[in-house]
Amino acid sequence: MKNTRREFIFSISMLAASSAFPAHAFAFNKSKKLKVALVGTGIRGITFWGKRLLDEYSDILEFVGLSDINPSRLEYGKQYIGATCPTFASFEEMVSKTKPDLVIVTTKDSTHHEFIIKGLEMGCDVLTEKPLTIDEVKCQQILDAEKASNKNLIVGFNYRWSPYATKIKELIANKTIGDLVSVDFNWYLNTYHGASYFRRWHGEMESSGSLWVHKATHHFDLLNWWIDSEPNEVFAYGDLEFYGKNGHFRGKNCRTCDHKTECAFYWDINKDEFSKKLYADHEHEDGYIRDNCLFREDINIYDKMSAQVKYTDNTILNYSLTTYSPFEGWRVAFNGTEGRIEAWLDIPYFENTSIEEAEKHANEMAQNGEEIVAKKSIVIHKLWQEFETVQVDMEESGHGGGDKRLQDKIFVNPKVPDPYGRTAGIRDGAMSILIGIAARKSIQSGTPIKISELTDLRPQIRRS
Ligand SMILES: NC(=O)c1ccc[n+]([C@@H]2O[C@H](COP(=O)([O-])OP(=O)(O)OC[C@H]3O[C@@H](n4cnc5c(N)ncnc54)[C@H](O)[C@@H]3O)[C@@H](O)[C@H]2O)c1
Repeated sequence: MKNTRREFIFSISMLAASSAFPAHAFAFNKSKKLKVALVGTGIRGITFWGKRLLDEYSDILEFVGLSDINPSRLEYGKQYIGATCPTFASFEEMVSKTKPDLVIVTTKDSTHHEFIIKGLEMGCDVLTEKPLTIDEVKCQQILDAEKASNKNLIVGFNYRWSPYATKIKELIANKTIGDLVSVDFNWYLNTYHGASYFRRWHGEMESSGSLWVHKATHHFDLLNWWIDSEPNEVFAYGDLEFYGKNGHFRGKNCRTCDHKTECAFYWDINKDEFSKKLYADHEHEDGYIRDNCLFREDINIYDKMSAQVKYTDNTILNYSLTTYSPFEGWRVAFNGTEGRIEAWLDIPYFENTSIEEAEKHANEMAQNGEEIVAKKSIVIHKLWQEFETVQVDMEESGHGGGDKRLQDKIFVNPKVPDPYGRTAGIRDGAMSILIGIAARKSIQSGTPIKISELTDLRPQIRRS
């Protein structure tokens, strides 16, 4: 079964192959198992980069160390992953004792830079979850560390790898609508997924860099990749008008709240077995409360966001992110010199969908191997012609099938040609967060912000 699936993915990659995999990308020595150490045994660490890696690739890799600041979550994480390796409170001790080939960073966003930089300095390849980091100072420190090291840094941009996103890339790269002129992109987070960011550390600017960085890094990476140019200037508006201080009532957290019956967002973490075991059972160690009140006063991120981005090739992007939409979905439209492409996912009025909003995020995050495949449409409307609709087969689990394709590319098929350049390196990681960082600065200053003012990276007309 495993082999069949891998062969399938291999053959799909080969079908589209036309250029070589970039030389700077990972190339592991497959004669012995890859030694992997992971820091951050939260949900992303133990599911996608933990259990899934062991389930799928234990023939080619092994965990040699796990680390987290919360000792009891760390033990739970080890058990959940099914690893037999030692655990460490100290990242440095883990790396010096276990000498991993690869360090995987899945801690909260504001700490990524610490482990990326230490990992590179200590002679390891590093794979970090998005976002690369949360501000321009830490970004420059990472750029400097990578330059000084002879090791690889890869950013886990899974969205690029979904067949739907790849099809859009193919259509634009093949000049289906001529040269790109402008792009409209709107992302709608619903009152389950959107709200979940305001329950925990994502709601603090100093931990997540706001959703301009934590969430929008995915979107800006897709856009940079589709547009194939680098961002030059950003102007943005944003505000906090729904969550945080705007609530009419609030409590310490959901479990102890006096407003359980009247609050539409009430969530009983103790009825969610996995969340209880992963978070609530360990909160005595570090005070990390997973079911915080999303109307707490100290939330200081934006819940509505809108930006205009001018790319170096003169393409203009209109972007918006909503965090309390009645449905979860997104849409994008590309205007070119020869026509227009429209694409969308999960807009209930456009699709005959019966899926409950509460289930959508669970499906997206699912790593259980169940593959629900659905046909998704992309409309191509060339000037002076009737429109046509292209159908793409897409999985609904694991971020539209992007999660598993990303891991297969890294661990199984690193040398298989990737004509659409889906593997993301440090420059991609940096360019995607720099748009969000510039947007934050633009809101604060009321002026457009040049990307070149933020780090020593100079935006290029074509991505390199
Ligand atoms: N690519 C995706 O689609 C995707 C999806 C979910 C999460 N993520 C990313 O994965 C990362 C983890 O997210 P999560 O949802 O698992 O968060 P989480 O809060 O569940 O887990 C974070 C873990 O990091 C640990 N931690 C925090 N600071 C630390 C430090 N200084 N040293 C060691 N450990 C520390 C915490 O104790 C916790 O166990 C984030 O960067 C997030 O952006 C990516």
